[in-house]
Amino acid sequence: MMNLIFLGPPGAGKGTLAARAVDILKLPHISTGAIFRSAIAAKSPLGLKVKAIIDAGKLVDDATTIELVKERLAQDDAKKGYILDGFPRTIPQAEALAGFSKVDKVVNFDLPDSPVLERLGGRRVCRKCGFNYHALFNPPKKEGVCDACGGEVYIRDDDKPEAVQKRLEVYRDQTAPLIDFYRKKGLLVDVDASPEVDKVVGNFKIALGVRQI
Ligand code: AP5
Repeated sequence: MMNLIFLGPPGAGKGTLAARAVDILKLPHISTGAIFRSAIAAKSPLGLKVKAIIDAGKLVDDATTIELVKERLAQDDAKKGYILDGFPRTIPQAEALAGFSKVDKVVNFDLPDSPVLERLGGRRVCRKCGFNYHALFNPPKKEGVCDACGGEVYIRDDDKPEAVQKRLEVYRDQTAPLIDFYRKKGLLVDVDASPEVDKVVGNFKIALGVRQI
């Protein structure tokens, strides 16, 4: 059992790596961003509440997000461990998490601003299965159509330039302090997220001491 957190700036590749890490570690991938996007697509009360906040690149309030994660981690599949991607994102969220789950490791995907802009500028996402593509680095075989499930491949509303700038600012102010928070607890491992995906997967495995794919 391993409870893992994926930390890093927007566009560092947390979702892409999580999709690979699910196969390596056989753990569920729990992404707060993906849960919010499904709620928005379903036009549920949660979705209606958070859509404008997310589109603007701001954070959903702590109370809503903490409750959501607490409920999700209580589900059976998360009892054997989890990969938590996009949570915590503030110190109060990290403190709340410590009250209902024990974190084993925090993987900090490290990437400077300029590749972040390049990655988010080209990101394309499947509306149906959530698979991440990139217009240049990893395009779907047929433009606009997901290779895996045939779903529509689209550009996220929060990947517009103004929202991306806001997300970077929010990351620096509210999320980056978690790096020190977890380093002081001896839980942080750093992974260089700048090379191509396979190399980042290799860096991740070395950082966690995982030998086999
Ligand atoms: P969320 O979905 O968590 O967004 P994020 O943290 O900004 O992360 P991203 O999904 O943008 O990037 P990623 O690191 O997963 O990169 P990806 O793998 O896609 O959250 C969205 C919003 O929800 C937030 O802004 C907030 O409003 C709300 N929210 C979520 N959690 C919250 C919380 N805890 N509290 C409050 N609000 C919350 O990769 C990016 C692109 O790069 C892709 O195109 C990919 O193909 C490409 N790529 C990936 N790796 C590589 C590589 N090694 N080389 C080249 N290209 C690569």
